[in-house]
Amino acid sequence: MSIAVYPGSFDPVTAGHLDIIERSAKVFNKLVIAVLVNSAKTPLFTTEEKVDMIRETTKHLNNVEVTSFSGLLVDFAREQNANVSVRGLRAVTDFEYELQIAQINSKLNKQLDTMFFTTSIEYAYVSSTIVKEIASYGGDVSDMVPPYVEECLKKKFGK
Ligand code: PNS
Repeated sequence: MSIAVYPGSFDPVTAGHLDIIERSAKVFNKLVIAVLVNSAKTPLFTTEEKVDMIRETTKHLNNVEVTSFSGLLVDFAREQNANVSVRGLRAVTDFEYELQIAQINSKLNKQLDTMFFTTSIEYAYVSSTIVKEIASYGGDVSDMVPPYVEECLKKKFGK
């Protein structure tokens, strides 16, 4: 059975993430979406809110699980019996950082390979940071996030 993890901050999950989730869920028997609990960053959404938003927007995918993790990704992947880490690549600017993480992870755990999915062109410019910026000023993010996340953003920013 092929099990993959898709780790990230997901603050919040975007339509670009969802595209990667839907496509990678077709490739692996099981896809575990893993929200990083990162005390170094100050996120907009709590870990529970992030997990809830991903669960809500992936409920049509029956081989997808959503959970959170702290510590090293390689340790979490081992616990999950996963041998692949999924990451999305939007542009060449993502590549250097992603290559470094993939190589570090492979050094820490030889069993873990990283597989990159290229982001569909319509989401190439979408990031959680951009979405938060636009939503904070009451801008329209309906093309960039699932409808449930749009509602959560409106509540968060009191719009
Ligand atoms: O969505 P992001 O913020 O680009 O995701 C980054 C993430 C979660 C993949 C990365 O920071 C991570 O795996 N962190 C866990 C700690 C870890 O394993 N560090 C070693 C590799 S950098």
